[in-house]
Amino acid sequence: MDLKWDDERTRKFVTNVGLVTSNGPHGNNIMAAEWTHHISYAPSLLAVCIGPNKATLDNIRETKEFGVHLAAFDQSVFSSIAGGNTGKEVNKIAILKDLGLRFYKASKVDLLMLKDAVMQAECKLMQEIELGDHTMMVGEVVEIRSTKKEPLIYRGGKYWNFGDQIEKPRQELLDKIKELVEKNKK
Ligand SMILES: Cc1cc2nc3c(=O)[nH]c(=O)nc-3n(C[C@H](O)[C@H](O)[C@H](O)COP(=O)(O)O)c2cc1C
Repeated sequence: MDLKWDDERTRKFVTNVGLVTSNGPHGNNIMAAEWTHHISYAPSLLAVCIGPNKATLDNIRETKEFGVHLAAFDQSVFSSIAGGNTGKEVNKIAILKDLGLRFYKASKVDLLMLKDAVMQAECKLMQEIELGDHTMMVGEVVEIRSTKKEPLIYRGGKYWNFGDQIEKPRQELLDKIKELVEKNKK
């Protein structure tokens, strides 16, 4: 079956907001990608799922490099700029710089990285996988940094802040669970 982007049932997912930088035929560029995941520890691999006809896809295919960032809680406007315009027509990096965002030159790849993000990972393309109507670009992390900022949350097409941390259950319940695990061992 097919599910549209605004289907109520898929809108239950909670995601982070990835900001993907690239540099290629469309110049230095940045796009928003909620489908950004850490998928392997050793080696460390990040996956970004990108729809067809995006400037970012052309750029990564050409250079085999990209930067992955996690947007911070106070960067929803910047995410909307990166996600609401294409680098084929607009210099989004220049807009974000004008709005006060700071970029730096990556050390292991040839592109710009966003200084003010929660996490900055420089990636070399390891694999490109066609999956339905998106292409998963799997990148090996070659350099990574992070800051103390809190991440931006995305759910139901809206931006959110983290809520309260959920408390650990009472010892009584933990003991009961341990007992149940013992009792139901295969
Ligand atoms: C919060 C947010 C999340 C998004 N997530 C994705 C995503 O995971 N994959 C994707 O292909 N597009 C996603 N988009 C849309 C792209 O960012 C958008 O199409 C952008 O214009 C592509 O830029 P480009 O053509 O410069 O590469 C998202 C947009 C927003 C605002």
